[in-house]
Amino acid sequence: AGSGKFFVGGNWKCNGTKDSIAKLVSDLNSASLEADVDVVVSPPFVYIDQVKSSLTDRIEISGQNSWVRKGGAFTGEISVEQLKDIGCKWVILGHSERRHVIGEKDEFIGKKAAYALSEGLGVIACIGEKLEEREAGKTFDVCFEQLKAFADAVPSWDKVVVAYEPVWAIGTGKVASPQQAQEVHVAVRDWLKKNVSEEVASKTRIIYGGSVNGGNCAELAKEEDIDGFLVGGASLKGPEFATIVNSVT
Ligand code: G3P
Repeated sequence: AGSGKFFVGGNWKCNGTKDSIAKLVSDLNSASLEADVDVVVSPPFVYIDQVKSSLTDRIEISGQNSWVRKGGAFTGEISVEQLKDIGCKWVILGHSERRHVIGEKDEFIGKKAAYALSEGLGVIACIGEKLEEREAGKTFDVCFEQLKAFADAVPSWDKVVVAYEPVWAIGTGKVASPQQAQEVHVAVRDWLKKNVSEEVASKTRIIYGGSVNGGNCAELAKEEDIDGFLVGGASLKGPEFATIVNSVT
């Protein structure tokens, strides 16, 4: 981890029931979390209200997606205005499951980010290559293209956290090595320096996601350019998520 404030997000994805979420919230409420870490959880939309009314204010809440512009006649979508109304401070955009399972494209994701930021939400902007792209030596090209779509659209980087999540590491138990993650994080920072500004490059937190767990987080957190984590599976277990939050020390 570098000098910026460590950031750990828990992406609960499409998991949980009222009961399992009540248990997770109670475990998070009783966990001891390092003070100097931003902690965010992202429940499924239908449970956000339950989480907001029962979770400690120490932990902020994120949506897992948002509509690209102001809400209205868009069946099945959730607007930025609604996320704010229900107490969210963040939204995850460009997650690989939305890119590759749902088919969201770079430009659309960039527009979503711009709209969410213009309304005051923070954005967890996800990028990452697929296995075949890594094997073809295209990791940087893919990440830079996805990053460029964000850079072309966003009005400011003040409330953007970049999440590098290699697709081959997500939900597979195959975590990137600290060196593999660090290499991409440095490249992303360098891209920001050349294409946005030196200030944005040094201030923007770049977090890693993909099979992070209580056992591998400490080694990853030692890397200079890993400024936190976006955690899927392991964020569904309160004590393990707390271990990950506290891994920066
Ligand atoms: O957004 C977090 C994510 O995609 C990583 O998931 O289950 O590999 O930690 P997981």
